[in-house]
Amino acid sequence: MKRFFNKMFVVGAVALLAACGGQQTQTADLPDYLNPEVEVEARIDDAMSRMTLDEKFAIIHAQSKFSSAGVPRLGIPELWTTDGPHGIRPEVLWDEWEQAGWTNDYCVAFPALTALAATWNTDMSALYGKSIGEEARYREKDVLLGPGVNIYRSPLNGRNFEYMGEDPFLASRMVVPYVQGVQSNGVAACVKHYALNNQESHRHTMDAVVDDRTLYEIYLPAFKAAVTEGGAWAIMGAYNFFRGEHACHSDLLLNQILKGEWGFDGVVISDWGGTHDTREAITNGLDLEFGTWTDGLTMGATNGYDAYHLANPYKELVKSGEFTTKELDEKVRRVLRLMYRTSMNTNKPFGSLVSDEHVAASRTIGEEGIVLLKNDNNVLPIDLGKTKTIAVIGENAIKAMTVGGGSSSLKVAKEVSPLEGLKNRVGDKAEVIYARGYVGDVSTSYNGVDSGQNLVDNRSEAELIAEAVEVARKADVVIVFGGLNKASHQDCEDSDRYGLELPYAQDRLIAAVAEATQNLIYVNISGNAVAMPWVNSVPAIVQGWFLGSEAGNALASVLMGDANPSGKLPFTFPVKLTDTGAHSMGQFGNDGEVVYGEGLLVGYRWNDAKDVAPLFAFGHGLSYTTFEYGEATIDKSSMNAKGSVTVTIPVTNTGNRTGKEVVQLYIADKEASVMRPEKELKGFAKVELEPGQTKEVSFVIDAEALSFFDDKKHEWVAEQGEFEALVGAASDDIKSSVTFTLK
Ligand code: BGC
Repeated sequence: MKRFFNKMFVVGAVALLAACGGQQTQTADLPDYLNPEVEVEARIDDAMSRMTLDEKFAIIHAQSKFSSAGVPRLGIPELWTTDGPHGIRPEVLWDEWEQAGWTNDYCVAFPALTALAATWNTDMSALYGKSIGEEARYREKDVLLGPGVNIYRSPLNGRNFEYMGEDPFLASRMVVPYVQGVQSNGVAACVKHYALNNQESHRHTMDAVVDDRTLYEIYLPAFKAAVTEGGAWAIMGAYNFFRGEHACHSDLLLNQILKGEWGFDGVVISDWGGTHDTREAITNGLDLEFGTWTDGLTMGATNGYDAYHLANPYKELVKSGEFTTKELDEKVRRVLRLMYRTSMNTNKPFGSLVSDEHVAASRTIGEEGIVLLKNDNNVLPIDLGKTKTIAVIGENAIKAMTVGGGSSSLKVAKEVSPLEGLKNRVGDKAEVIYARGYVGDVSTSYNGVDSGQNLVDNRSEAELIAEAVEVARKADVVIVFGGLNKASHQDCEDSDRYGLELPYAQDRLIAAVAEATQNLIYVNISGNAVAMPWVNSVPAIVQGWFLGSEAGNALASVLMGDANPSGKLPFTFPVKLTDTGAHSMGQFGNDGEVVYGEGLLVGYRWNDAKDVAPLFAFGHGLSYTTFEYGEATIDKSSMNAKGSVTVTIPVTNTGNRTGKEVVQLYIADKEASVMRPEKELKGFAKVELEPGQTKEVSFVIDAEALSFFDDKKHEWVAEQGEFEALVGAASDDIKSSVTFTLK
């Protein structure tokens, strides 16, 4: 089947083309802008020559909460967007956030992006992008509002779960296949939130104070990779200010860097309500305005969209002669280009929704992302041969996590809770007994979608803990599912966490249960690091993320040992809040200027520089097997700026089951003229090894991996001198290193 025609496009001349069986000879009869045989830029020229000024203004701003207009007269379809980033959002009303009440707007929830990043597996990213893109496509969406790649600067950021961790290299490698996978469906990825949206508190008014080096080395690389390597067709501006301008109309971020330095030819879409100034919106790189909270609009006024900055106010400025149509034409050209890539693309597939493949993908990605943080006495995996009773404790064993959290909230076809997943897996081989343990957030709905659970429980903390301890005493193995949830001030948009501690007296619960059993497993459900004051009295700890539709099944696979854990942390778990740069500086969550005084020292870079031991390090993650690393060797002891060296290390599976190890390469610049982090991630490879098997893992190190951003020259520079390649299993577990020089 060579040519597909989607439903939205059965209009005008193309309907004629379809009716004629899509024979090539017929396309000659089509006007250029509708003719798929004509090169896209020429089609755009033709479309623009036919559009009136009003039609041009109409396509550069929203017409509803999630769509913008097409050109009805010419048969150019509307553009439909959807959140993002881990499932396709349910339909809301035209002008309101309330549910539209459709019954076909469900989806698969894929693991939140922190879990994807924790796979350290670019194949998982490709699978994720392809699968979520297919769901978007089936739901007739043209733009997926995701992925998010804001760097994890603080464990309190309420939206970290929507992002890919603290390291720019890891996030860059993981974002590229996601974008490509989504776009292979004729659906644009809209990478967000560009840039420096690293906190939710005061997100519309805070101004990120960041120096150029930190900007280029830490906060921009993942966006750059998404654009220059992933070929992203859209990018979403952030809410915050940067150097006095809102990021949605920042000349520096959008005109100079994104469109200038990176050559971005796609569309800059404002975050919903992120546009504040008509003149800046015209000149500073914004192309398509969404969600502006114009007076009356939130109340559902039907003409509110005309009052958007890029609607009548812009038109007035053109009429008055303050602006020509130069900027307008540039925006229209970009929006049309996006349409030709998506809504006007006659070759795109139809997609699929809640297919067996998507459910399986969600589960596989989840299993690969789960991180085994600690496993003393091999408490895990649970051996059903020796286990008669399993106690499951905690609200997070039962609470639906796909509802809530802000704009990423979903209406899933099905969500398997951890308790349900365990029961499915254990069957009649053991008894599973449950105790609530703590009462956290009993709300079950977001934006009109309700999980249908009743979580109300009015017992006191003492009663809940007493019951949990009693249940734990009866069991051979005890699993506490705790952590955060999707309520405000937890892992949730528009607010940040209050502190690093677990909420709802969970620390007291865990400490009490730890006294009642030798075999305690704590599974932390969150998108953020949490403090673990009881860490030494709990033998097994698992980072379980927000895993989406298949959460319970994925967790049960790992806990029972069907899947061998292979995830590694994409961010550092600090012992205490002030062990992170941002909080050590006291600069997080405030309004006005937020000074990123830690500079480059984000995440493990801070731990290295300050010699602060983490609770669990960036890159850490255990397996049910063991790996032994040999000596790292290098093919040459020196390279020139255009060359490269290859570092190779043998890794052996020394345990007795097949497993995957993420081998990590860090680079240290030994003779820099500027401050450089002690080491930085510049390579990783996930390798599968059978028991006894050895594989040689190689990394090619080129000048890019050695470079820093020279803010005086405004370019990347690799300085001559000695470098060290450090290869290890985690940022705090370097196994072998070799030095070489750049000549
Ligand atoms: C969020 C975006 C989201 C948009 C549309 C905004 O509040 O910041 O991430 O895509 O709403 O729901």
